[in-house]
Amino acid sequence: MAGVLREFGPDIWIADGPTVTAAAGFHYPTRMAIIRLSDGSLFLWSPTPLADDLRAEVDRLGAVRYLVAPNSLHHLFLGAWRQAYPDAGAYAPPGLRRKRKDLEFDGDLGDTPIADWADDIDQVVIRGNLITTEVVFFHRKSGTVLFTDLIQHFRPRWFKGWRAIVARLDLMVAAEPSVPRKFRAAFTDKRAARAAINRVLEWPAEKVLMAHGEPVVEGSRDFVRRAFHWLTDD
Ligand SMILES: [Fe+2]
Repeated sequence: MAGVLREFGPDIWIADGPTVTAAAGFHYPTRMAIIRLSDGSLFLWSPTPLADDLRAEVDRLGAVRYLVAPNSLHHLFLGAWRQAYPDAGAYAPPGLRRKRKDLEFDGDLGDTPIADWADDIDQVVIRGNLITTEVVFFHRKSGTVLFTDLIQHFRPRWFKGWRAIVARLDLMVAAEPSVPRKFRAAFTDKRAARAAINRVLEWPAEKVLMAHGEPVVEGSRDFVRRAFHWLTDD
């Protein structure tokens, strides 16, 4: 029976959640990733709405221990998961504690991975952007880089009407997944951003996940380099 989880590599699964409506009525598909750490516990990246079938499949993989919001835009369902899993810790990217004073967090995401997951997952904070500060992760065992909103890719006819025009101009529907123009313009500290992306480029990436778009599974290091050439070659 087909479930809601898709195996994406060794000890990593993805689940595509329902579509949510963001600013100005743009609809976004949602995606979460579940990583099983070496000790068997689960690291949930960008949790999507908590549903019974999703929960049952996640529980079969291991004990939910870490709930991770990768940037200050992907936090809507964190509270529900935290309530369902009181023993799990919630981790905040820069800026989220201020935005979600109603949520209790157990740690903050910085440039050094939290000790509990450092053997399995590395991370880099992409600083210098006015829209959001995104934390990019690298799951060593599967060679997966996890971007959230910094790289996006929508199907050509996903958006309708004026939103389709905006999406095209913004490179949200470009030939391959790209950094939307609004994010490029919002990098006010390019030196900080460049240093962070250079760290990402050091990872031996085999695959790239993003919250909105089909994953990249071939030529991934070159792909990341192309996606950020406007920043690194500047
Ligand atoms: Fe997003």
